[in-house]
Amino acid sequence: MTAAAQTLILFGATGDLSQRMLLPSLFGLHADGLVPDDLLILGTARSDEDDAAFRDLAGQALAKAVTGDRRALIPGFLDRLRYVPLDLHDARSFAGLATALGDRARRPLAAFLSTAPALFRPAIGGLAAHGLAGDNARLALEKPLGHDLASSQAINDAVAAAFPEDRIFRIDHYLGKETVQNLIALRFANSLFEPLWNAGGIDHVQISVAETVGLEGRVGFYDDAGALRDMVQNHMLQLLALVAMEPPARFDAAAVRDEKVKVLRSLRPIDAASAPGDSVIGQYRAGAIGGQAVAGYADELGRPSATETFVAIRAHVDNWRWRGVPFYLRTGKRLPDRRTEIVIQFRGVPHSIFEGQPLKPNKLVILLQPDENIRLLVMAKQPGLGGEGIVLREIPLDIALRDAFAGARRRIAYERLLLDLIEGDPTLFVRRDEVEAQWRWIDAIRAGWAAARMTPALYPAGSWGPPAAMALAERNGAMWHG
Ligand code: BG6
Repeated sequence: MTAAAQTLILFGATGDLSQRMLLPSLFGLHADGLVPDDLLILGTARSDEDDAAFRDLAGQALAKAVTGDRRALIPGFLDRLRYVPLDLHDARSFAGLATALGDRARRPLAAFLSTAPALFRPAIGGLAAHGLAGDNARLALEKPLGHDLASSQAINDAVAAAFPEDRIFRIDHYLGKETVQNLIALRFANSLFEPLWNAGGIDHVQISVAETVGLEGRVGFYDDAGALRDMVQNHMLQLLALVAMEPPARFDAAAVRDEKVKVLRSLRPIDAASAPGDSVIGQYRAGAIGGQAVAGYADELGRPSATETFVAIRAHVDNWRWRGVPFYLRTGKRLPDRRTEIVIQFRGVPHSIFEGQPLKPNKLVILLQPDENIRLLVMAKQPGLGGEGIVLREIPLDIALRDAFAGARRRIAYERLLLDLIEGDPTLFVRRDEVEAQWRWIDAIRAGWAAARMTPALYPAGSWGPPAAMALAERNGAMWHG
C-alpha cells in the first residue's frame, strides 16, 4: 500500500481552477473525513500573500460553493491551509518552500500543478532541486498537456526527468465523474451487456459533449486550441476508450490503462483523403440560447478566426471487436443544451414477428450531464385490448442514479481524483502512452484538415452545429440522439 500524502502542495493555488474546483473538492473530502487528519494543504502562487490572505480567499471561494450545515466545517478546513509565495524562476523562493515544509519534505507528499504548461518545467526543476521529488513525492498535472504530440512529449520528458511514470498523475477530470466510473461498473459488473458489446450486437456508438457556454473569457487559450484539442483529444477519447476497451483482468491502474491504450492505438487514422467525409468543423455565429441573444465567436474574440468551436467525427476502432462499427463523436460550444452522453445503438432484431409494427432497435443512453442517468430503451406492449393486436411502443428502463442513491451527495469530479492522488492510486489518471496515442490521432486529423483546406462552417449559436454534422451520421443510416 502506498502511504497517504501528508502534504499537498498546490501550485497555482489562487487561480480559477483552484477556487472553483480544487479547494471546494478538498473541502468536500475534509468534511467527509476522507483525508488524513494531519493533511496540510500548502498553496503557492506568485503573489506575495500570507496564510491569512490565502485562507481568506479560500473562505470566500467556499462560501460560494458550500451550502447548509456543512458551512460550519469551513473554519476547520481553513486551518489546514498555508501559503508560500513562489516565483518559479527564482531558486531562493523554492528554498523558502522547502523551509516551510520542514520535516514534511521527507514524508509522503503530493504536488498539483495547476499552472500554465510553460511553468511545468521550472516547477518540476525546482521541486527536484530542493529534494521534493524523491520516492515519497508524487506529481499531478492538469491539462493542457501540450498542443500536439511533440509539445506533449517535451512536457512528458521534462516531468520524467524528475518523476518516474508511476508517480505522475495526469488529470483528465472526466475520469473523476461518477457516471464515467459507472460505465466501467455497467460493463464489467453485469453479464448482460458483454455478449452484445461488439460489432455483432452494436450498430454504432455516439459520444456527445454539448455545451451552451461560449469562450468564457478564455480567449487566448481557446483560440489556439479549438474543440478538437480542447475536448476530443482528452475527455472524449477517454470516454471512447472506456466504451471500447477489452475487459481488464482487474480494476487496477496497469490493467485498465493497458486496455485503454490498445483502443487508442487502434483508432483508424483520419487523413486528408478521409477528413472531408469523416469530420465536420464549425464555428458559432450570433444566435440565441434559451431565448437570450448571444454574440458570435469572432465577435467575442474581437477578430476573425479559423478556430473550430464545433467538431463532429466518424471514428473507427480497427480491431476484431469493433470492425465496421462507427463511433460518432460530437462536441461544441454554444449548442442548445448542456448535455454529455454516450449512446450505444444496438442492432435490431433479425426478424420481426410483429407485422406492420415498426420496431426500434434497443439503445443504451448513458447521460453524464446535466443529470446522471442510465437508460435502456426497449420495445414493450402498449396496454390495451385493441382489435389491431399487439401494439408496441418504445419505453425507457431508467436507472436514475440520483434516485437510486438518493442519500449520496453529488461530488465534484476533482474530489475523486484528489483523493486518489492523496492516497496514491493512479487508476483514474492518464498514462503517458495514452496521452501520446491520443495526440498522434488528433495531429493526423489536424494535418488532414489543413491539407484538405477544410475551414469551419458557421452555425448559429443555439443550433446543433452545421447541417453537415447531421449528414455525417445520416449518410450511414444513423441519427444523433436527442
Ligand atoms: C475543459 C475544457 O477541459 O472541460 C472546457 O477546457 C470545457 O472548454 C470543460 O468547458 C467541460 O467540462 P465539464 O466537466 O463542464 O463537462
